[in-house]
Amino acid sequence: MKTETTIQGLSASLQSARAARKTIGFVPTMGNLHQGHLNLVREAKKLCDVVVVSIFVNPIQFGEGEDFESYPRTLEQDSHLLADVGCDIIFAPTVDQMYGKQPRLTNISVGGITQDLCGQSRPGHFDGVAVVVTKLFNIVQPHFAFFGQKDYQQLAVIRQLVKDLNMPIEIIGVPIARDTDGLALSSRNGYLTQEQRQTAPVIFQSLKQAEKDLHAGVALSEVLQNIKAQLSDAGLVVDYVEARQPDLQPINVFDHDLVLFIAAKLGNTRLIDNLQIQLKT
Ligand code: PAJ
Repeated sequence: MKTETTIQGLSASLQSARAARKTIGFVPTMGNLHQGHLNLVREAKKLCDVVVVSIFVNPIQFGEGEDFESYPRTLEQDSHLLADVGCDIIFAPTVDQMYGKQPRLTNISVGGITQDLCGQSRPGHFDGVAVVVTKLFNIVQPHFAFFGQKDYQQLAVIRQLVKDLNMPIEIIGVPIARDTDGLALSSRNGYLTQEQRQTAPVIFQSLKQAEKDLHAGVALSEVLQNIKAQLSDAGLVVDYVEARQPDLQPINVFDHDLVLFIAAKLGNTRLIDNLQIQLKT
């Protein structure tokens, strides 16, 4: 496994793979890797000859007062984990390497689906994601790119971006990896105190309860209220609890498949999760 920190170095490393027409798989991350990230790499290994994983804490997708500075940077530990799952190349550029010294004058804004859910409490976040992912796609030029369903809205934004701009890349969505108690794995779980960590599984529990209730015929609006109550009772501050169709269109009654979305703060830590619920039981 190689680690490249410059765009030039990465291009050189990929030259022989490109010349041999090998399929290149790409997994963009911000590092501090856990099994959720590693599952993406495992999927990439199944489908591609060469797998590139980027580790880059992207400043422009963090808002004012968010955790850009404190975001965990654990490159050495990440490298060991990536070597174990067969990653071929790590791309770990500096901010300077990615954005240079001159101001960036181009923005990429995916409309519609970025306006609500996480887009509402994190203005500009998805623009920052769209810009960095486009840059990374242009740098790596992969055939396939892998994203987690944990960040469901992000995955939808990337699919839209790739479609709208004719990027010749196939996007693969990978299911959410969870801890044994149901908590969706996240680099931000490391911010939780021991007590908060014990509380956090209530997020997934409330989603599973909602699934049961929906299948038992409880009205969707009531189910959403119940989730909110359960989260608040456990001491979380709810950002949003919403139901959407799988393509993120609104849904008011459980008359087709839907996705339940939660964003909530536990202390200073913002956690998100979602659950896809099929109409049939
Ligand atoms: P990061 O939060 O590091 O996540 C990298 C990828 O791992 C994303 O596609 C995310 O959805 C996926 N992932 C994280 N936790 C997961 C889990 N529990 N189960 C399955 N997949 C999971 O998302 C980003 O970085 C950034 O926004 C990025 C796309 C790299 C752009 O900067």
